[in-house]
Amino acid sequence: MQKVVDSIQGSYDRYLNELKQFCAIPSVSARSEHKGDIQRAAQWVADQMKSIGLEKVELVPTARHPIVYGEWLHAPGKPTLLFYGHYDVQPAEPLDQWLSPPWELTLRNGELYARGVVDDKGQVFMHFKALEAFMKNQGRLPVNVKFMIEGEEEVGSENIYKFIRERRDRLGCDALLVSDTTMLGKGLPSVCYGLRGLCYFEIEITGPTVDLHSGSFGGGVPNPSTILCEMMAKLHDKDGRVTIPGFYRDVRPLTKPERKQLKQLPFSDKRFQETTGAPQLVGEKGFSTVERIWARPTLEINGIYGGYTGEGAKTVIGSKATAKFSTRLVADQVPAKITKLVKKHIEKITPKSVRMKFTLHSEGDAWIAPFDHPLVQAGKAALERGFGKKAVFIREGGSIPLVATMYKEFKKPCVLLGFGLPDENAHAPNERLNLENFQKGIVSLAYYYDEASRTH
Ligand code: BES
Ligand code: MN
Ligand code: MN
Repeated sequence: MQKVVDSIQGSYDRYLNELKQFCAIPSVSARSEHKGDIQRAAQWVADQMKSIGLEKVELVPTARHPIVYGEWLHAPGKPTLLFYGHYDVQPAEPLDQWLSPPWELTLRNGELYARGVVDDKGQVFMHFKALEAFMKNQGRLPVNVKFMIEGEEEVGSENIYKFIRERRDRLGCDALLVSDTTMLGKGLPSVCYGLRGLCYFEIEITGPTVDLHSGSFGGGVPNPSTILCEMMAKLHDKDGRVTIPGFYRDVRPLTKPERKQLKQLPFSDKRFQETTGAPQLVGEKGFSTVERIWARPTLEINGIYGGYTGEGAKTVIGSKATAKFSTRLVADQVPAKITKLVKKHIEKITPKSVRMKFTLHSEGDAWIAPFDHPLVQAGKAALERGFGKKAVFIREGGSIPLVATMYKEFKKPCVLLGFGLPDENAHAPNERLNLENFQKGIVSLAYYYDEASRTH
């Protein structure tokens, strides 16, 4: 094992050169003009898999973006880990806020900057390097692995479910392994045991069929922007609770022991607030910040626009106004049920003076699981060896819809070992990954594959 670790520690410069190539490909899944880049990124992943010695490497086409698959199954009697990650990234806009170009991996003050470096290219790449070190130094892996890297995670993972259904027999495993989450803080290696689910909606309000002069018509016609704001403002009460009838009906309550466990985590509200730059924290009455972001469902407006939004002033009543909004869900809430409740309520609060179009973009279940399984505990042990620090068990407020599905369908533990930090600007300008976490993370993953092999 020491040889494997030494070889990782002697290869960091080469790793950064390779990661630079990966991050240079603008694999933005949301935009059709990047279709070629998506293809190139998938090919890069496939080439990487082949070069480290994975077998049966395949670029599997889907209705939208390809899934890259590879495996190595020559450790009889040892566990089989199914790794899941994504090579697609969020759009880089607004470009003028980046301090270095988003598609050029840049090391600055101990941080690696690039779009996708933490979410999720860098973290996928860390697994490749851990496996490569075993192959190079021992000629084999300590466990069996199946790798499945998709290109649609950032747009809702629509097409991976068909892939999983079709290959159900070939994807058999002892655990799902994912690195696409964060640590509680610097020096606090973390194993994640819960994620929130998601329903994403869009509504469009139309009043007049054309834009109108706000002097000639203002006062006599419905203004879609005003009406949309009124509607959106009604979705929370003064205690920060969502007002949609039935929204909380299925929510699994926090147990006393878990509240106690969350309270004991070294989570700092002050640090959390500083990360956001907001003058004050807010949220649902009766819950702490960690509880609000990990264990309570929420509703957030993600974008709202209408009328004139360009430079200067324009006296107009826009014909349309739009809001994109989403709910984060927790255990036992059923996305399809929530969508129904939201739609019904929105219809009810839409005034007769306007027309409303309701669109559902995506739905995904929440996930929570006990963490006593040996393959999960092996994660804790590995992080502690790699970082030389005590590891903690955390939940996350974000969503990885596939994890919930796999857990439900395969009934296998999901091991989430994330190496990001909460303030690394995932989805925002200047996305970064801490270099030390990148390096210690690769070592930890090598320890993980080793620890996992000892559970059988
Ligand atoms: N890696 C994130 C999920 C995540 C975010 C985990 C923060 C832990 C903390 C993933 O790439 C992501 O962004 N997921 C989307 C879900 C989606 C269906 C687009 C999300 O959470 O908004
Ligand atoms: Mn991700
Ligand atoms: Mn993401």
